[in-house]
Amino acid sequence: MDKINIEPLAHAYKLLNPGAVVLISVGDGKADNLYSVTWNMPARRDPGMVAILSGKRHYSFPFIEKTGEFGVNIPHAGIAEAVLGCGRTTGSRVQDKFKRFGLTRLSAQKIKAPLVNEAVGNLECRVCQVIDLGYSALLIAQILAARAAPEHFRNGEWCFENGLKLLHHLGGDRFAVSEREIDVQLPQG
Ligand SMILES: Cc1cc2nc3c(=O)[nH]c(=O)nc-3n(C[C@H](O)[C@H](O)[C@H](O)COP(=O)(O)O)c2cc1C
Repeated sequence: MDKINIEPLAHAYKLLNPGAVVLISVGDGKADNLYSVTWNMPARRDPGMVAILSGKRHYSFPFIEKTGEFGVNIPHAGIAEAVLGCGRTTGSRVQDKFKRFGLTRLSAQKIKAPLVNEAVGNLECRVCQVIDLGYSALLIAQILAARAAPEHFRNGEWCFENGLKLLHHLGGDRFAVSEREIDVQLPQG
């Protein structure tokens, strides 16, 4: 297979599929906010843990520092504009990102932050470790509760047969969708 060198090398991380871009929801019971996060990953299976990389200057960050909690909302392609919008605006200027981007609040079971009703999946997380990286912080959090749309998540896995389109962030304003499974079998012998 022919290859080209990735230059500048600062683009190399984009070769790693970042998984689905997510909307992080924060709130303290009085105010709330949303922001988009591409840099997210599962970090442990049992107990379930996730990791997100978050800018410390985001309006949302002090909410996480104060409550130790956040929601992870997994969008579908139908709300891609809201994902871009929540990541291109700050809660310090937009008072209600839910309203501004046509999203509705879903009450969480274990955390104060509201969840995004339109998302196909929602995780409620409590921070257990913070790795300070200067301008940003790696937040490692335990999953306290999780919900997903039953037509799209079956037997513990995403399934695409009912029209699920997960949203992936390529960089800048560019996105891609994943929308079908492929059948992979080991070669005989
Ligand atoms: C598609 C997309 C993905 C983003 N991914 C991240 C990310 O992984 N981590 C991060 O800290 N900020 C990320 N951002 C930037 C924040 O979402 C953005 O700075 C947002 O305005 C912060 O909102 P706030 O100030 O209301 O908290 C992303 C933005 C976009 C548009």
